[in-house]
Amino acid sequence: MKNFQRHRRLRKTPQIRRLVEETSLAGARLIWPCFVVEGRGVREPIEAMPGQFRFSIDELVREVKAVSTEKVAGLLLFGVPSSKDPFAKGATAKDSLVARAVVAVKEASPNLLVTTDVCLCAYTDHGHCGVINAKGEIQNDASLEILAAMSLAHAEAGADCIAPSDMLDGRVLAIRRAFDANGFAETPIMSYAAKFASAFYGPFRDAAHSAPSFGDRKSYQMNPANVREAMREIAADLSEGADIVMVKPALPYLDVIAEARRRFDAPLAAYQVSGEYSMLKAAARNGWLNEAAAVGESLTAIRRAGADIILSYFAHQPKS
Ligand code: PBG
Repeated sequence: MKNFQRHRRLRKTPQIRRLVEETSLAGARLIWPCFVVEGRGVREPIEAMPGQFRFSIDELVREVKAVSTEKVAGLLLFGVPSSKDPFAKGATAKDSLVARAVVAVKEASPNLLVTTDVCLCAYTDHGHCGVINAKGEIQNDASLEILAAMSLAHAEAGADCIAPSDMLDGRVLAIRRAFDANGFAETPIMSYAAKFASAFYGPFRDAAHSAPSFGDRKSYQMNPANVREAMREIAADLSEGADIVMVKPALPYLDVIAEARRRFDAPLAAYQVSGEYSMLKAAARNGWLNEAAAVGESLTAIRRAGADIILSYFAHQPKS
């Protein structure tokens, strides 16, 4: 009989296992997505995302001081405004909720990278990611101006990077042009390039009060069945001026991450979304999974597939 291979030789001790480890979570490659609301002293638990909160700016400032800069590169800020209207007016003001949060967080923790999410869904009364006409259809090109104005307000407040998540066509170009024309040529754009119309965003929509009041997001977010189309989206965003491209969700889309890694040289991010967080949390809370081990394994899998950067609620779990 031919000799078989002894794979277990390199698995014998923690030292030898570490020696041959191919993928590591070391280095600050994590971004913590968090939610900011109006008011003072607000620290509101998000029911569908145990361990995560909506913070008023003062509480967020207190919280970011507890974020480990060893482990976490920065934050992704989501505004949850107290008033909404058809045109997302609250999104573009120079002193918008998110703009004020950016100023406060940068002042409190200058070493944390502050990225802001740019999208209209939390600001429109209908909950869609762009403005709509009387028939309820998304007005792609009219929405671009608003997205660009929103991005500019965040950049002026001092955001280190902005992240458009609306999935409308041409928004990266519109934002890049607005930045170039207004003195922010050096502000990077991390585009949600391949963002799928996913059921795994459910808990987030509870957190951000951003569920659409009619219809769904399938006319702008991608069909989960498509990987080649995801590559076209990424190529388009890079050609429009995106600096970092993202695949979202992460764990159910490892093949998309791997294919994007193979095809593109740009830094690649993956978003472990709310539903991925809540599933792991729920199982752990029931004693069905070891949380630390399962989280570590899922983050390692996302890195192994090829993501350089991971956006994950597990990046920071505030003490309640
Ligand atoms: C806004 C936005 C969403 C998420 C990030 N930005 C929700 C959506 O598209 O419905 C999802 C994040 C998550 O589930 O954690 N468009």
